Amino acid sequence: MDQREKKLAAASAAIELIELEGFIGVGTGSTANCFIDLLAQFKHQFDGAVASSEASAERLKANGIAVLDLNGVGDLAVYVDGADEATRHRHLIKGGGGALTREKIVAQASKLFICIVDDSKIVGHLGDFPLPIEVIPMARSFVAREMVKLGGRPELRHGFTTDNGNQIIDVFGLEIREPVQLEETINQIPGVVTNGLFARRSADIIVVSGDSGVERLE
Ligand code: A5P
Repeated sequence: MDQREKKLAAASAAIELIELEGFIGVGTGSTANCFIDLLAQFKHQFDGAVASSEASAERLKANGIAVLDLNGVGDLAVYVDGADEATRHRHLIKGGGGALTREKIVAQASKLFICIVDDSKIVGHLGDFPLPIEVIPMARSFVAREMVKLGGRPELRHGFTTDNGNQIIDVFGLEIREPVQLEETINQIPGVVTNGLFARRSADIIVVSGDSGVERLE
């Protein structure tokens, strides 16, 4: 199986897992796009979706799925999204596509967070993938200096603005042994909007697709 087939298999397994009713939380990225395209076949069974990015909202609408603001629907039963790295403890790095803030909000507002990945995303420890941090623009140099103190090598994601009008710093070289603690430490730096560690609110289920089939980590 190539990587796209694996992403499709993980997305398809997530469709099997969820109740197709009410409003469904939908993530961002190429794996989430597979999920959106499959979900479209069932659009008459549920009311609509809450999207974690403008890009996903556009794709959902193009598939004929109603998109509502989170403020209009309250808490969600389920959120389905990809990840850049995932451990068997279900801790994640997300934000490669820059949508981490809305992803974290929708994940936190959902009872069940199902993460869908191909097996290349499973790691022993997080940190080979640079950790994205969304920052208020005037704080980017300050936050970068604070990340150097924490042992990282920050790089501004040039030419990129988030859906919230902010910037992203990608932090290389972090060896993340205590993801919950590091997530909290980075959250305390003034100017940080969100960091891409999803450890305090980890995934409830990770659906991993590989050559030998689909495995569930829960
Ligand atoms: C988007 O900001 C990210 O958190 C994505 O969920 C993550 O980058 C995974 O994307 P792919 O499914 O394209 O690998």
